[in-house]
Amino acid sequence: MSFTIVEEATPRLNRSELAVPGSSPKFFEKAAKGEADVIFLDLEDAVAPDDKPQARENIIQALNDIDWSGKTVSVRINGLDTHYMYRDVVDVVERAGDKLDLIMIPKVGTAADVYAVDMLVTQIEQAKGFKNKIGFELIIETALGMMNVDEIAAASPRNESLHFGVADYAASTKAKTTNIGGPNPNYVVLTDADEAGNRDTHWGDMWHYAIARMVVASRANGLRPVDGPFGDFSDPDGYRAQSSRASVLGCEGKWAIHPSQIGLANEVFSPSEKEIEKAKRILEAMEKAQKEGQGAVALDGKLIDIASIKQAEVLVKKAEQIATG
Ligand code: GLV
Ligand code: MG
Repeated sequence: MSFTIVEEATPRLNRSELAVPGSSPKFFEKAAKGEADVIFLDLEDAVAPDDKPQARENIIQALNDIDWSGKTVSVRINGLDTHYMYRDVVDVVERAGDKLDLIMIPKVGTAADVYAVDMLVTQIEQAKGFKNKIGFELIIETALGMMNVDEIAAASPRNESLHFGVADYAASTKAKTTNIGGPNPNYVVLTDADEAGNRDTHWGDMWHYAIARMVVASRANGLRPVDGPFGDFSDPDGYRAQSSRASVLGCEGKWAIHPSQIGLANEVFSPSEKEIEKAKRILEAMEKAQKEGQGAVALDGKLIDIASIKQAEVLVKKAEQIATG
């Protein structure tokens, strides 16, 4: 281990994160009773400019009136380049900040963006005498944000998670696609021809670098990395595959832009019984090995060593976190 110890952010289950437009209050109650770990009530891109003031009112009322117990509740404010953002923060936090767990800041480009919102939130919390401390979720979804991801991740003790916003990221990097997430038939590798002249195409994952980069910045700062939206809500298999790739890279969860995606995310980002059983067997085998003075042994014909203990503990701890809610 380094002499620098990474402190983990407030632990929360974040397997599924449901997006609910602030302009659609009819969905709020259902979201609060549903299976999503985190719900973010949106004031940003799912809300048309003329609807923003009413969406703000809807969200403030819902935070105060709806029973959100058992859920983590967040509000996505507008970007710092808009004139909506200051009022989002001031109105929502002043009138319902004691009911709010997290604020989601979109299109974060620099550490100073986080600092600015932190300053506002801190003043309001102090003025109102709130006991809770609102955490931050930061969407990395621009080239600038990705370039500065390390400083952004370290910008505030309020930071809890980084999210990959694939749609805005594609727009910002001028990627040749109009899909929201998922693979692309133009991002393929063509194999050399075999003896019969046949060639295969292998699909690649064009989002691999961005997600992996965000995972590293998150984990190095004790934050949760979370994969963002998958727009094709009629493609559960595609959603599951994207979630699996993100989970294997280290993400803790994924957005659900439709209720049908919640269960899929909860399933993919929970260790399966088989995985938990294997992790427990690794821990047992390593305990025995250490008692016998060995650092590495074979289990099922494969090498395991002291690093395997840490890998297995990640899974076992996640299972415990899920079991205790
Ligand atoms: C999310 O905000 C995205 O742009 O994908
Ligand atoms: Mg976005």
